[in-house]
Amino acid sequence: MFDRLSSLSESALAKISSAKTSEELESLRISYLGKKSELKALLKKLGVLPAEEKPRFGAAVNDAVKKIESRLLMRRQELLSSAASVKKIIGGVDYTRPGFIQKPGLPHPLISTIEKIQKIFLRLGYGIAEGPDIEDDQHNFSDLNFPTDHPARDAQDTFFIEPIHADNPLLLRTHTSPLQIRVMSCLNPPFAVIVPGRTYRSDAPDATHSPIFHQVEGLVVDENITMSDLKGTLSFFAKELFGPDFKIRFRPSFFPFTEPSAEVDVSCVSCSGKGKISSDCRVCKGTGWLEILGAGMVDPNVFESACRRRGDRVYDPEKVSGFAFGMGVERIAMLTHNIDDMRNFFENDSRFLEMLAS
Ligand code: PHE
Repeated sequence: MFDRLSSLSESALAKISSAKTSEELESLRISYLGKKSELKALLKKLGVLPAEEKPRFGAAVNDAVKKIESRLLMRRQELLSSAASVKKIIGGVDYTRPGFIQKPGLPHPLISTIEKIQKIFLRLGYGIAEGPDIEDDQHNFSDLNFPTDHPARDAQDTFFIEPIHADNPLLLRTHTSPLQIRVMSCLNPPFAVIVPGRTYRSDAPDATHSPIFHQVEGLVVDENITMSDLKGTLSFFAKELFGPDFKIRFRPSFFPFTEPSAEVDVSCVSCSGKGKISSDCRVCKGTGWLEILGAGMVDPNVFESACRRRGDRVYDPEKVSGFAFGMGVERIAMLTHNIDDMRNFFENDSRFLEMLAS
């Protein structure tokens, strides 16, 4: 048994020394030291030896195991360092590994929609204004002719910011219209501006609602601005954005800060306004029209709020008039890209952007 042990150990050491790969080393380790190895089998036969031989044989087996283990370790390191020199591992970095694919970024459809809208109005000579996402009640509601406790406030479920100050609480703006007040506080008429920005309402997310969304507001103030200026502007805008065959229609509506007010529809992007003729159109439910924005003539009370803030009569509603409109960016992006669920915009799935870009 002693002879068998030493020949086993010799052949193991020789084979390990000439192993060429770490896989080969691993299979040698299993065959010489594994559970089913001959060494383990020899150890089991310990019982047949005379009592005085047992400790010597046990020690010899341990010795052989240690030698084989340390040779395995040595050879593994030799193989690794020669592999490293082939692979040019420098300072622990393997420069031969394939690199990570750096995908170029893609524009988000909400941002590119805002940019498209901006471009159209910039060509008409509009300026761009921006304002804070955290507003106060006065800019968001009171100065826009929403009386306290008026039900019109209920249409805009609001995130208030604690601690709630009773006279003028802070809130996340529910629309971009507070910028009407902010712009008139610092600009003299005549002017034409649009205001892109993020807006917030306490709505549960679903296919057509999100607590965070985007709007683009428009405000034009001058002498003798009329409803036909508003119609002409929005008709031009719809044709530029959707295509020359698209029409708009005005439906009477109500907003506290415009009088008269209208909801504006564009011909259905899916059935091109055929509506009832192809009444199976699911996008416009057979009406041929899709609502895209709210608009109207600036209410004289809003001009009065601006005068109060400024302490002058530059915005005297007897002298100036104006129109305002506000559109939902998500709605427009959904219509132009044929997207049926608003949550796609916020889920951060790069496949969604790739799909739109292709
Ligand atoms: N602020 C209104 C809304 O969010 C839209 C609007 C803007 C309507 C300007 C009229 C004029 O519903």
